[in-house]
Amino acid sequence: MSESRPLLYVSRLLPEPVMATVRERYQLLTEPEEGPPSPAVLRQGLQEATAAIVTLSERIDAQSLSAASRLKVVANYAVGYNNIDLAAARHHSIVLTNTPDVLTDATADLTWALILATARRVVEGDALVRAGDWTGWSATQLLGAEVAGRTLGIIGMGRIGQAVAHRAVGFRMPVHYYNRGTRLTSPPGAQWAGVSLPDLLRDSDFVSVHVPLTEQTRHLIGASELAAMKQTAILINTARGPIVDEAALVDALERRTIAGAGLDVYEDEPRLHPGLSSLPHVVLLPHLGSATWYARVQMGMICLRNVDAVLAGRPAPNPVL
Ligand code: DGY
Repeated sequence: MSESRPLLYVSRLLPEPVMATVRERYQLLTEPEEGPPSPAVLRQGLQEATAAIVTLSERIDAQSLSAASRLKVVANYAVGYNNIDLAAARHHSIVLTNTPDVLTDATADLTWALILATARRVVEGDALVRAGDWTGWSATQLLGAEVAGRTLGIIGMGRIGQAVAHRAVGFRMPVHYYNRGTRLTSPPGAQWAGVSLPDLLRDSDFVSVHVPLTEQTRHLIGASELAAMKQTAILINTARGPIVDEAALVDALERRTIAGAGLDVYEDEPRLHPGLSSLPHVVLLPHLGSATWYARVQMGMICLRNVDAVLAGRPAPNPVL
């Protein structure tokens, strides 16, 4: 009996509830692995499948899309889609979808984990205790920065930026935001103010990046923006690495023109700028923004909902084209 389920390419192993649903509904082109696929496997997957679920670490370029003659839909297992050549997908009438909303809270929470961990030197404290070097309470050990009442600067007030801003109410923090879109009304108890980027950089104690990566936002934070920040300020990036010029950031951190950085994303993941890992005043995470069970399972289910819809001839619920 010939197989009637559509051929789906899944580039990386997804959480088990997602894989179980994939296996029920689709014929898998290849068994996905935990790590990234080789370029040859990725090319073959896109060429032979009717639908693909890919992750942010797969670069889907014009060349691979032009060879993908059977492909109807690419569901990106992420909210950001800078890994995919949008124009080429559009040119080849391949529907591109993403996974908004379900990872907003997870990413906003992780942003706050970085704000607090960096300000309060949590990782340095943990390392000290584990190394057996803690000799007891000290009035001068690992003093950090106050968070409550300080100014939080948010670059990009989309879904995630706003979720980060909402969490600032409990910390009594005024939020200065820089946004290309419309002005936002402060929710009850909050103080939100739309400002220019130079004003935000000058006045904020914490600067958190939440714009998508585009040609316009690449290196939005470079040497001059870092120089404009307070010497006591901390930069947080849970968006995309290339929005921050990493070499300029390392330079600013080494010269202590800013106080610290909390990073979940990097310019050339998974490679790190050689200067970063030796700096004590940075907290480095391995791109964990959406890494909760809830978010990662829901992201998979959203990908499947989009694939199901396109293959059934219905509009995709989450198109980015
Ligand atoms: C996204 O969805 O863009 C996140 O970075 C994934 O973790």
